[in-house]
Amino acid sequence: MDATSQHLLMCRPTYFAVDYAINPWMDPSAPVDAALAVRQWEQLRQIYSDLGHTVEEITPVPGLPDMVFAANGGTVIDGKAMAVQFRDPQRADEAPAYRAWFEAAGFEVYDPKHVNEGEGDVLLAGDHLLAGTGFRTAHAAHAQLQEVFGYPVVTLQLVDPRFYHLDTALTVLDELTVAYLPEAFSPGSQAVLRRLFPDAVHATMADAEVLGLNAVSDGRHVVLPVQATDLAAALRDRGYETIGVDLSELRKAGGGPKCCTLRLRQGKASK
Ligand code: ARG
Repeated sequence: MDATSQHLLMCRPTYFAVDYAINPWMDPSAPVDAALAVRQWEQLRQIYSDLGHTVEEITPVPGLPDMVFAANGGTVIDGKAMAVQFRDPQRADEAPAYRAWFEAAGFEVYDPKHVNEGEGDVLLAGDHLLAGTGFRTAHAAHAQLQEVFGYPVVTLQLVDPRFYHLDTALTVLDELTVAYLPEAFSPGSQAVLRRLFPDAVHATMADAEVLGLNAVSDGRHVVLPVQATDLAAALRDRGYETIGVDLSELRKAGGGPKCCTLRLRQGKASK
C-alpha cells in the first residue's frame, strides 16, 4: 500500500475547555486537564511530521475552545475551500477565522448557504464525496458541495447522537476502502455503504465508543485513538500500519485525531 504525503491544517488547543455541551460527550461539570490536552495534541502533530506530512497551524482564538477541531473549519479539495457554517452559536466565530486562513493561503473560497461543518461531515473517498447529515450538516448543504467540487455526493443519514459527525462513524482508509460502524447509519444508508464498499471494515461499538473511527489514514498508516484495539487489529489484518495516539482530554469534547486535522488538497497532483 502506498502512503501519500499530506498537507494538513491543525489548531493548537491553547484555549481548549469544555464549558458548554453541544454533543453527548461534553460534560462541563467534569474536570479537563488543558495542559495535558496540549501535550496530547503535540504528540499527534509529531506523528504527522514523522510520517512526512506537512502540518500548517492556524492561530487559536481565545474564547473558542472547540477551535482545535480543525476538521470543522472547512472542506478543501482541488484547491477550492468551502467555508463552514456551524449549527451551534458557540462555534459560529470559528468560521470566519478559518475562512480568513484559507483566503490568505491562496485557496479559492466558497461560502456555505446552509449549516455545513466541513470535513467533520464531508469525506472524500476515491471519487465520491461522502456527506453526513442528521445532526449537524444540513441535507441542503450536500447539493452545494456537489456543485462546488464536482464530485458525486453520497448522502449518509446518521442516527446515533454520540456519532454526530460523519467522521466519528466512518473513516476513509484509501481510495477504495472505508471502515465504519453500521449501527451509526440509517438502514438505507447502511445499504448504500454496503453497495459502495463491499470490502469495508466493520468497526465494533467498543471501537466507536472510544472514537476509534475518528482516524487519519494516508493510504498505508492509520493514526487512531490508542484505545481502539479491535479496530487496530482489524486494520493490521488488512495490511495497514496502525499508530495509536492518546487524545483522552480532547475526547471529553467529543473529538479525536481526525477532528483535529483538516486535509488541504491543493489540486489533482496532491489529491
Ligand atoms: N465539541 C465539538 C463539537 O461538538 C467537537 C467537534 C469534533 N469534530 C469532528 N470533526 N467530529 O462540535
